[in-house]
Amino acid sequence: MTVKSYIAEAPSNIAFLKYWGKLDHKNQWPSNNSLSMTLNKCHTRTSSIILDDGCEFEIYLDQKKIVGNHFYKKVIAYLTFLKQKYHFKPYLRVKTTNNFPTASGVASSASGFAALTLSALAAWTDSESLLELKEKGFSLDVLSGLSRLGSGSSCRSFYGGYVVWEKGEAHDKQKTKSIMSQKDWDLADTVVILSNEKKHLSSTDAHKRVFSSPLFAPRLALLQERQRAFEKSLSFCDIKSLGPLMEQEALDIHSVIMTAEEPFSYLKKETLDFLVWLRNLRQASGFQAYFTIDAGSNVHVITESKDQKEFLTYLRKDYPTVDFIEDAVGSGPTLVCETL
Ligand code: PMV
Repeated sequence: MTVKSYIAEAPSNIAFLKYWGKLDHKNQWPSNNSLSMTLNKCHTRTSSIILDDGCEFEIYLDQKKIVGNHFYKKVIAYLTFLKQKYHFKPYLRVKTTNNFPTASGVASSASGFAALTLSALAAWTDSESLLELKEKGFSLDVLSGLSRLGSGSSCRSFYGGYVVWEKGEAHDKQKTKSIMSQKDWDLADTVVILSNEKKHLSSTDAHKRVFSSPLFAPRLALLQERQRAFEKSLSFCDIKSLGPLMEQEALDIHSVIMTAEEPFSYLKKETLDFLVWLRNLRQASGFQAYFTIDAGSNVHVITESKDQKEFLTYLRKDYPTVDFIEDAVGSGPTLVCETL
């Protein structure tokens, strides 16, 4: 009997306007719209095969079979939800691997859940391409809506270029769409790895805690205006206005979590020193490089792609031993099928 392996590759994404707080945890309904850039290189590759009757789900991470840990429970809960929702009979063997380190500050849950959703549904529906999946009722919009229930930010990884996730007036009225393609503006993201320490507060817990900050409501009140400004800067490919907005937004979400009840800081001394270094570089030379930071201590430096090499020469000079990932805007997920 031939066994088919359905292999999905889904990119990570970096949010410029960040999802920070959930109105409804069960339905992953976010407090605000978010806007991200899909990455080109950092991705998760996930394969699924259908198992014989009598088998249970099998999960492998980086070639190792995983049982019982937090990652395993999250994946099993999500696959069980999909299996029950669509009355799929067989269980799956799922193998997944990221091409970037987990503690790098690149969102592995975004690319991870996007690749898992694509690969599992391709296997269950015997779809060998994205087109076939769409014909069977699983368009990218449907897949993105499902994946969001596993990890909110993963819904943006289904589209290329620059992507908006609109929260809508109710959790079932959300929309995620690409507003500009990667061809419209070639931005680069250099992820600078300042610390390999695992974060001590998951984004899931941070999303719960942010409501207690006195800065949370004022933040929400200005986000509509900030989104408009982001979209305008993007449409004019204007890094000089995009950059300050991005830095303000990153500092804003970190200020919120630092002033919540049970305050927490993802920003380490190394992070803050780096931000000062980057701002000094800009002030001294006018070099156009700006930071954003997710729920971690590593920094994403956004430049135009034509300037990335020059940025790396400054980085290597002042941070000769630091690890970094060179990435840029990308085009979205892929799906292939191999016969084993
Ligand atoms: O999707 P989650 O639950 O991992 O939350 C993502 C939160 C941020 O990365 C900080 C912001 C974002 O929009 O990606």
